[in-house]
Amino acid sequence: MRPTRALLSTGLLAGALVAGMAVALAPAADAGTTLRAAAAEKGRYFGAAVATGKLSDSTYSTVLNREFNSVVAENEMKWDATEPQQGRFTYTGGDRLVSHARANGMSVRGHTLLWHAQQPSWAQGLSGSALRSAAINHVTQVATHFRGQIYAWDVVNEAFADGGSGGRRDSNLQRTGNDWIEAAFRAARAADPGAKLCYNDYNTDGINAKSTGIYNMVRDFKARGVPIDCVGFQSHLGTTIPGDYQANLQRFADLGVDVQITELDVTTGGNQANIYGTVTRACLAVSRCTGITVWGVRDCDSWRGSDNALLFDCAGNKKAAYTSVLNALNAGGTTTPPPNTTAPPPTTTSPPPSQGGCSASVSLNAWTGGFVATVRVTAGSGGTLGWAVTMTLPGGASVTNTWSATASGSTGTVRFTNVDYNGQLGAGQSTEFGFQGNGSGSGLTPSCAAA
Ligand code: XIL
Repeated sequence: MRPTRALLSTGLLAGALVAGMAVALAPAADAGTTLRAAAAEKGRYFGAAVATGKLSDSTYSTVLNREFNSVVAENEMKWDATEPQQGRFTYTGGDRLVSHARANGMSVRGHTLLWHAQQPSWAQGLSGSALRSAAINHVTQVATHFRGQIYAWDVVNEAFADGGSGGRRDSNLQRTGNDWIEAAFRAARAADPGAKLCYNDYNTDGINAKSTGIYNMVRDFKARGVPIDCVGFQSHLGTTIPGDYQANLQRFADLGVDVQITELDVTTGGNQANIYGTVTRACLAVSRCTGITVWGVRDCDSWRGSDNALLFDCAGNKKAAYTSVLNALNAGGTTTPPPNTTAPPPTTTSPPPSQGGCSASVSLNAWTGGFVATVRVTAGSGGTLGWAVTMTLPGGASVTNTWSATASGSTGTVRFTNVDYNGQLGAGQSTEFGFQGNGSGSGLTPSCAAA
């Protein structure tokens, strides 16, 4: 008897499950002997910042793939790299890193959507609402491109001032209005609802004026429902570490956010190995500390030049600092199961029935003078072969850009039709598209027609 199609797919599914388990169980064979295995036994990830140009260096990639189960782009997802000219996006480096991560069972941190540094020159020349609009568009486009691939985004990097003020750093972004950070978080949530959204900064290694300023912002965001999930502590450390390093992580965790060590490196001038161990123990002692990332693989990959600030020497040998981290990770035995670090498989769409209606709903993230609308299209019982959503914008409002749909018109009644990959929906299935607008987007009432 020939197997039925259903049996065949069950067989395929079982095969896929077994393959998936083999991947998930593989670290058990070397439990505790690599950073990634030892961290996974504690329910944490251990990551490194990567320059994709170095992946072809076998010393580099051997250490990276053996020791780390999380990566972050050292530069390749920053604004100057991803949008070198306004509205022209390049994702070559970021995409390469994501595919390397998928192939090696690594999760990806996204770094960073908005920052005062490493802005493309066109953005440096903007101000006011033109800059605000460009910045929110950047957040939306980049987070949409990597949607589903990123464990946590550093939505905003280094927005607080050093010194005793506890206030914001002056920057072109800050001068667009104090609400620029929350507008960025809202746009990021709309674009990639599955990614954890982090605020990331340095000189926040203990309870000090700067970390307290950030703490107050996070508390305010949580109270007002601004979507924030995590705080990153860069931890570029010198010869000492504040005694309240762990207490500082804990007070943020107590606000209801995850904390992560995001750019760890430690100078060699003091007791480097001890400081690395102290940071590792602090993260393990805070249940909401979900992982540690070091800012590079080998000493000669480090942005800190002759500081020799990392865990491996230039030949890829483990340093005393490495052993200190590994021992700290292994101390106290296994506590929690390893997180699933493998990116979710792409979703598949079943072939649609030939007729049926659809409905649409809008969720809005608005700021003074602009908004991002996310529109969810849901097929009725007959499914769709294509769809069109129309809505009438308030007077003075206009659509400035659209993703995952094609817009006809930009003011008044605007019609959005599916693009080629999201027109076919099975019965009850949904898809989302979005657009950014100037002016007010309040009161949008979509109507949906299916083909
Ligand atoms: C650094 C990179 O490591 C360098 O290659 C680049 O020239 C400058 O930026 N804080 C951050 C990181 O958030 O993005 C910085 O990375 C280091 C300080």
